[in-house]
Amino acid sequence: MKILSVVGARPNFMKIAPIADALKAHEDVTHFLVHTGQHYDENMSKLFFDELGIPKPDVNLGVGAGSQSQQTAEMMVELEKVMIDQKPDLVLVVGDCNSALAGAIVASKLHIKLAHIEAGLRSFNWQMPEEINRIVVDKLSNLLFTTEHSANENLKKEGITEGVHFVGNVMIDTLLNSLEKAESSKVLEALNLEAKNYAVLTMHRPGNVDKKEVLEGLLDTLAEISKNIKIVFPIHPRTKKMVEQFGLTEKLNSLQLTEPLGYLDFLKLNSNAKIILTDSGGIQEESTILKVPCVTLRGETERPVTVEVGGSVVVGQDRGKILSAVDTFLNGTAPEPGVPELWDGKAAERIVGEIIKNA
Ligand code: UD1
Repeated sequence: MKILSVVGARPNFMKIAPIADALKAHEDVTHFLVHTGQHYDENMSKLFFDELGIPKPDVNLGVGAGSQSQQTAEMMVELEKVMIDQKPDLVLVVGDCNSALAGAIVASKLHIKLAHIEAGLRSFNWQMPEEINRIVVDKLSNLLFTTEHSANENLKKEGITEGVHFVGNVMIDTLLNSLEKAESSKVLEALNLEAKNYAVLTMHRPGNVDKKEVLEGLLDTLAEISKNIKIVFPIHPRTKKMVEQFGLTEKLNSLQLTEPLGYLDFLKLNSNAKIILTDSGGIQEESTILKVPCVTLRGETERPVTVEVGGSVVVGQDRGKILSAVDTFLNGTAPEPGVPELWDGKAAERIVGEIIKNA
């Protein structure tokens, strides 16, 4: 049996790592790994392959940046050639980025069985490119692996009931596998930080960074927070570009900037933070397991279980709501969040088991 996996953007890498690992145990399975090249900087891509022991991609399509359609279309053209050449029995896509969308459409049109890891999540915000990707990928998938019950409910409402498996969260597999290794990271010393005495910020969603007034408002609010706690900001290339384009560079002065960090440094940084402020869905999930309170800088979440178990609060872009949530977490005594069901480090094993059974 040949499985062809498609990855391309940073959050894909920690999701494919435990799958690639679990597939190694099956000698009768060939795993062919395609990197679309969506993320191409050393510290957005190669570093993750090295740290997480992901096999070197068999092919890198080198697509890189572009508009939504240009990027997706270029990936599709190249993926079609690879899939025709490789003739996989199953194509596997993870998450909700453009690389997953491209992989799903091409596999489907070539009548190749399609599996989607992290299926069923819905923000119900159609302004997000990821929401469109999720809906299309799920509609095309034959095997759908979900991380939380809300995803199964969403799929059911869309009429998708066959091939759906609630398996837990592969991103948490990687986190649990990496905690010990991350301990030896020297990132706190390198950034001159004291454990539990700083906040971590990540922000890159188009909805937060692509409009000047929104980005400026958020940076002003963050400057206010930084009067009470040091904020460390590994800045995403998209955000950096937009800040420069809008002439807002000075508004970053109150934040401690770093380049995007590798997986292990970032894990160590997050584990020791007092709070996390983020617009990333993946980090919302990781912070829940790390038991570090998470203020989610978005109007909604496709991962409601993180809120239900008390791991994160969703505050949007509103200054008052953000300040009040931060204040509660810095001064209050919020109870420890619970652990979502099946976020136990064994999701990849369950997924590979189902794939082998069903392919
Ligand atoms: C993509 C995903 C998003 C995910 C995020 C994580 C989609 C629709 N979005 O968004 O779901 O949360 O990745 O990072 O697929 N860039 C670089 N170097 C890189 C990568 C990107 O400079 O290694 C620049 C590009 O030039 C581009 C910008 O960052 O202008 C955005 O990259 P892109 O791949 O379009 O989307 P992300 O915002 O990273």
